[in-house]
Amino acid sequence: MVGCLAGTGARRVRPKRAEDLSNLFYKRKAWVLQITLAGGRRAFGWKMPTGAEAPVIRKERNMKLNGKSALVTGSGRGIGRAIALELAREGCQMAVLDIIAENAEAVKEEVEALGVKNLALTVDLTQRPEVERAVEEILGQFGQIDILVNNAGWDKLEPFLESEEQTWDKIIAINFKAILYVCKAVLPHMVARGSGKIINIASDAGRAGSTGEAVYSGTKGAVIAFSKTLAREVARHQITVNAVSPGLTETPLLQSIRGQSPKAGKVIEAVTRAIPLGRVGTPEDIAGAVAFLASPNADFITGQTLSVSGGLTMY
Ligand SMILES: NC(=O)c1ccc[n+]([C@@H]2O[C@H](COP(=O)([O-])OP(=O)(O)OC[C@H]3O[C@@H](n4cnc5c(N)ncnc54)[C@H](O)[C@@H]3O)[C@@H](O)[C@H]2O)c1
Repeated sequence: MVGCLAGTGARRVRPKRAEDLSNLFYKRKAWVLQITLAGGRRAFGWKMPTGAEAPVIRKERNMKLNGKSALVTGSGRGIGRAIALELAREGCQMAVLDIIAENAEAVKEEVEALGVKNLALTVDLTQRPEVERAVEEILGQFGQIDILVNNAGWDKLEPFLESEEQTWDKIIAINFKAILYVCKAVLPHMVARGSGKIINIASDAGRAGSTGEAVYSGTKGAVIAFSKTLAREVARHQITVNAVSPGLTETPLLQSIRGQSPKAGKVIEAVTRAIPLGRVGTPEDIAGAVAFLASPNADFITGQTLSVSGGLTMY
């Protein structure tokens, strides 16, 4: 029996591209045909053994992270939220962790709507005992943490000479020391299992420097150097450690920096004009890079820093 996709006794399907045909499942063996018509137009059809049933379209996506569990810090909004949703779309169980309880709960609901098991935890990452309790709870519920994304961060745009020690301490505590706490709590478990992927969210400020962000840039440079060293130390346990380094990305943090002073707004406008791809990033731009590094496609990549900045920085 030969069927034309334009319509036969079998169910109608309208593939737009040849690859779509590879998604056709046949309950019995069949051949997909491509026919060139007069005038160069192409049509597609199938040939099935007599009595074969109509084809059905495979609906399920090839989810690369099925069966994995992830912890994403600062995932109550912005880049962290987009990362949590992207990993969940890939089938990953998700621990949503943030200092703002209602944001963590809201993202938990969004993840739940994707049909993925998850939990929300309210944690101040600068408090080591809170971090340790949270990691224990995640391990208790999921049994494993395969992917750790250290995303939470904070900044205040101001010239170094006008900055106060209190601000330095806050930036260092959230952007760098918290990552040490989380890695120290999660790594023994990854080492015991002989696998794991750690992705630290740095910033191109940590690679190139950024006016008004001296201490922030220092912490992000530290994140990059820490990631490389850790990558060397844990490679023998088949654990990879990489950094994703966003450029300007449209999030609540960027909005609050814009609002900190008219000068801050002008700096951001000027940087935006210099981006070769002509726009600031979206949280989803960053999430795509993280999902790649968390996937089996990146099994042989470690100690790297990937800038996602619309070409503003090229290393
Ligand atoms: N937005 C940008 O332009 C940009 C550029 C480069 C790098 N980054 C980095 O990307 C990461 C995410 O930034 P974002 O723009 O989404 O920021 P955001 O402020 O929108 O989100 C950060 C999240 O971290 C949480 N958080 C902050 N302190 C915490 C703490 N002590 N404990 C637990 N959670 C805490 C916040 O509540 C928030 O949900 C940060 O590391 C930031 O430095 C952002």
